[in-house]
Amino acid sequence: MSDPSPERLLQRAQRLSPDLADRLVAWQRAEGRHHLPWQKLRDPYRVWLSEIMLQQTQVATVLGYFERFLGRFPDVSALAAAPLDEVLTLWAGLGYYSRARNLHRCAQAVVDLHGGVFPATAEALQTLPGIGPSTASAIASFCFDERISIMDGNVKRVLSRVLGWGEDLSVRAHERALCEAAEQVLPLRPADMPSYTQGLMDLGATLCTPRKPSCLTCPWSDLCVGRREGEPERLPVKTRKLKRSERESWLPWLVWGDKVWLHQMPEKGVWAGLWTLPLLDDEAAVADLLGETLMAEAEPQPRQKHVLTHLDWWLNPRRVLLGDADAQVVSARLLQTEPSGRWVAEADLGRYGLPAPLRKLLG
Ligand code: ADE
Repeated sequence: MSDPSPERLLQRAQRLSPDLADRLVAWQRAEGRHHLPWQKLRDPYRVWLSEIMLQQTQVATVLGYFERFLGRFPDVSALAAAPLDEVLTLWAGLGYYSRARNLHRCAQAVVDLHGGVFPATAEALQTLPGIGPSTASAIASFCFDERISIMDGNVKRVLSRVLGWGEDLSVRAHERALCEAAEQVLPLRPADMPSYTQGLMDLGATLCTPRKPSCLTCPWSDLCVGRREGEPERLPVKTRKLKRSERESWLPWLVWGDKVWLHQMPEKGVWAGLWTLPLLDDEAAVADLLGETLMAEAEPQPRQKHVLTHLDWWLNPRRVLLGDADAQVVSARLLQTEPSGRWVAEADLGRYGLPAPLRKLLG
């Protein structure tokens, strides 16, 4: 595959403009997705909310959460005024809870710093918590017709193929060259930006897929350098892959009458701010906590695999029923390392933000 220099890449992009954009816009209007609820109003609040939800979650899953969020928080002021716990509870099941915490902080920043109105440029949007370059570009192009390219993983794939850019995108300079080329192929008319941006997403989701692109029905098929050179599915090149790791945790599920023992996770990291059963690194730690007699009574629950972006996390719950005296002793031990710990009545669990696997277990 030919690897043009950054200059050749830019020239190639200039040569293909405005044809690429015109075709994509026409294709999106005829064949793309138009029914998604955040597309209707060009409302930055809705577009922002959907973009954050869609960062690591499929459209089909997001639809239900999106409607529930809007039902409870119809505008950015309602979201800013809500207690964080309520936001986390509504978010439960979407995972990556730092998104929910940033969502809440961002809503507060929009209210406190911008009078409840989202700023209208990608540059200003990026100053808000949790809004990175791609989300800022999506909001600005969808709602304010700004001529700027989103650069998420799908878009990098689509553009590196059509422009035949076979350089390693893990190298900053090569990625930057593609971003500069992306600016060259934008539609000339700002009013085309919403269809163009949605077209890039739709093309990446439906035709220009990672493994088996459907080139025959692609609006760019006769212009696509990656296709002309034979193997579009080889693009983009990205050598530095995310390294996955595994972790194993044991979760004492302490039941005292109608209560369970939970503590709150720290602000940073996995399950940030959510409530969890105690998390211990091995079974011996559970035995240390419970003592021999209770350990013998602890009931192993099925081991669960919880898949995160860079981590397969195995959860081993151990359920144990405690009398009054044992409940005092064991909870006093736990409080030494997790001072947020408390007994929570089962009837009150709905008011606590629980990660999805624990909600399923305890529910
Ligand atoms: N993924 C991210 N943004 C999207 C959008 N606007 N439509 C569909 N999928 C998306």
